[in-house]
Amino acid sequence: MMTRRQAGAGILSTAALAAVPTIAVPPKREPQSLPPPRSEGGKPLTAALKLRRSTREYSTRALPPQVLSDLLWAAFGINRPSGDRTAPYWRHVMVIDIYAAMADGVWLYEPKAHRLEPHLPDDIRAATGRQDFVAAAPLNLVYVAHGERMQDISAEERRLYASVDTGFIGQNVYLFCASEGLATVFRGAVDYPKLARLMQLPDQQFVTFAQTVGYPRG
Ligand SMILES: Cc1cc2nc3c(=O)[nH]c(=O)nc-3n(C[C@H](O)[C@H](O)[C@H](O)COP(=O)(O)O)c2cc1C
Repeated sequence: MMTRRQAGAGILSTAALAAVPTIAVPPKREPQSLPPPRSEGGKPLTAALKLRRSTREYSTRALPPQVLSDLLWAAFGINRPSGDRTAPYWRHVMVIDIYAAMADGVWLYEPKAHRLEPHLPDDIRAATGRQDFVAAAPLNLVYVAHGERMQDISAEERRLYASVDTGFIGQNVYLFCASEGLATVFRGAVDYPKLARLMQLPDQQFVTFAQTVGYPRG
């Protein structure tokens, strides 16, 4: 049986607990599976080449999950049982990761599972470039190179090959956008140190370029 003293202590501790301010723990973000990429459709290549261009005026309309899925697959998805990709890459060493900076945070595209892994909960779109439109466009792709995977070459060569790998991906994105009526622009005007810091990239990883994608405004 509880003594009066024990009961009093119990009441006290319950009261003390109620007085402690609760810390709101944000819900754990789960990986987002993407719908399987559509393997048919789109404009003929020549038509897409005719339409390819850079656009700097965007609507704020979000990309539907199917469009995001198709876009990321076209960018650098797996197109063969070997696990190889829609873009060629340096020495068969997988160097480039694609991050998707959107209103709901930053996600890492994981091509094997064809899904988005949560990276950061923050909306960092405005920091992905030095131009105003990047803040309101629904998606900014940020291309990040794993320098540590590029062995036996100089820092200058690392930057060169990582940039070439990124350029191929960027052109895939341009052609996909041209085919789908989306707007895009590949971008080098980026505050690189600031973006790397915000994205919490490890020392050896670096941003090569960014690319905005969305619906054209108007
Ligand atoms: C390496 C590279 C960096 C670029 N950086 C930017 C940029 O920071 N901002 C921008 O608005 N466009 C940028 N562009 C897009 C070019 O300005 C554009 O491709 C060029 O003016 C030709 O226009 P078009 O793509 O419509 O044919 C870049 C393109 C490349 C290839």
